[in-house]
Amino acid sequence: MNITKQILINAWNKYKTEISLGEWWDTVASKVEDEFLYSIIRKIKPKKILEISPQYGRSTKIMLSAVRKNNKYCEILSYDVISDSSNLNTNDSAVKRELIVGDVKSTININDIIECDFLFMDSDHSYGFGKWYSQNIIPHLKNNILVYIHDWPTYASDGAGRNYLPHTSRGKFENQNLHGDGEPRAVKEYCVHTKMLNPIMNLDDENLNNIEYENQGIDPVQLLVKI
Ligand SMILES: C[S@@+](CC[C@H](N)C(=O)[O-])C[C@H]1O[C@@H](n2cnc3c(N)ncnc32)[C@H](O)[C@@H]1O
Repeated sequence: MNITKQILINAWNKYKTEISLGEWWDTVASKVEDEFLYSIIRKIKPKKILEISPQYGRSTKIMLSAVRKNNKYCEILSYDVISDSSNLNTNDSAVKRELIVGDVKSTININDIIECDFLFMDSDHSYGFGKWYSQNIIPHLKNNILVYIHDWPTYASDGAGRNYLPHTSRGKFENQNLHGDGEPRAVKEYCVHTKMLNPIMNLDDENLNNIEYENQGIDPVQLLVKI
């Protein structure tokens, strides 16, 4: 499947009604991005997901719910320095979820990267960490793998986010950017300019009418595809 913005929007329209947001929704994410995360898993039906990182397991719960609905066996490998989401570990006929505790830079296994069907990235938002995964994870992904990067500011002092969003940023976050521009700047330098990743949409897209980003002042999700 050649993943495009339209395919993702169609999937969102199709699958978002399946989820009950009350279970996990809180102010660290927008309703639309949770709906997209769920709908993406429903659409692409991955066999292996790498989740970097789960913290308390909010994003894990969304993906687990979609995987169970898919009815296609999937392995979710989650990496965090804290073990707070270990209660979500499971291993049954539908899904294996395993939390690997430690610094992902030393715990991640190259074979798992090669086999990955969906990469969820919400970890250390620094430039250094962005550079690390741009050089050590992204190059090993299969082509056409979707990369979901949480907390991607539309405002960035050097235009790191704005330059390759598929629309003109509305610039709402210029005074309330929570996470800095480090990670997007690294991904831009090492993945987008080198044509390893193609940015296909940002969940602040005006067509989505994602009002939580405006109301809560949180940074939006960027979606990119491995070329
Ligand atoms: C923003 S939280 C993740 C939130 C979660 N995805 C959610 O949706 O609720 C970031 C997590 O990254 C973890 N983290 C930061 N640097 C890390 C590293 N080098 N290796 C593994 N985990 C790391 C932190 O411990 C923290 O739990």
